[in-house]
Amino acid sequence: MRTDLRNRDLIGDLDFSKEEVETVLDVAWDLKRKRALGEPHAYLRDKVLAMLFFYSSTRTRGSFEAGMAQLGGHGAFIDSETTQISHGDTEREMGEIFGRYYDAIAIRHVTWGTGNRYLNLVAEASRVPVLNMQCEIYHPFQCLADLMTIMEIKGRDLRKRKMVISWAYASSYLKPVSVPQSLILQMPRFGMDVVLVHPPEFNLMPEIIDQAQEQARIAKTSFEVISDKDGMEKAVKDADVVYAKSWGPLLVTDDPEEGKKIQDKYKHWITDSKLMSKAKEDAIYMHPLPADRDIEVTSEVMDGPSSVVFDEAENRLHAQKAVLALTMR
Ligand code: CP
Repeated sequence: MRTDLRNRDLIGDLDFSKEEVETVLDVAWDLKRKRALGEPHAYLRDKVLAMLFFYSSTRTRGSFEAGMAQLGGHGAFIDSETTQISHGDTEREMGEIFGRYYDAIAIRHVTWGTGNRYLNLVAEASRVPVLNMQCEIYHPFQCLADLMTIMEIKGRDLRKRKMVISWAYASSYLKPVSVPQSLILQMPRFGMDVVLVHPPEFNLMPEIIDQAQEQARIAKTSFEVISDKDGMEKAVKDADVVYAKSWGPLLVTDDPEEGKKIQDKYKHWITDSKLMSKAKEDAIYMHPLPADRDIEVTSEVMDGPSSVVFDEAENRLHAQKAVLALTMR
């Protein structure tokens, strides 16, 4: 068991080895049990986490803030708009200064071509861990919560389980590619056979696809990419896990109007009960939320017996508390 994660950054999903992720999950289940029993677990008394947001959030803010309080510390919410960042505070200055005030710095910055670089520059200058609350490339804490949720339902041994990560249509905005990218990197390491399916304009970053293929090769699992304008139904056949969510055609354009025109060609990519009937009878439906209800997924599926979306949201709390407790000691 690899237990020494003190002072470690978590920016990309592969920053923690498989053994270290197993430790995180172990601690997460222990903390979940302690919370259920009302057992105190104030491992981070007097510690403060900076939570710097460049982008809106419901679950991430709520779960990090509640998690820090439950661990006996404090999560300080900082909206980038109310800082001096726009007046010149650089990444290096933020890392140096916040590293002297806080015990860890968590950042959400999803701007295409900017967010991940920002996190890494802050991390270079910071003496405390930098934690990725979502950038444009990765959403590692969502992925840890998703892995935890799948294991709770399908068991710890996920070998031969088929997970379909599908694009879905949304009309609200061009959502980041970070969730599917984190999933394809992490899930093969835990034995799942992963199928990624999307219309042709919705490719993920080639270097992430290469890394996912390498992880699947090491773990001796399969990783298949289906790029097809009508691929969703075929891909979902016999799946154990259907993880269908929207993302923008960001490798083609990050212009919202142009992106929406492309998205609008694929309104039939919706998760409904007909689609779920192609998966295994006990298949689960997953989505990190927020979802475009009755556009990305029908309410019948989202509120139905196969949906585990609220378990995923809850497990954000426990998985994050585990990483905070292990890295901020
Ligand atoms: N899934 C997720 O990260 O939710 P928020 O955007 O609400 O934080």
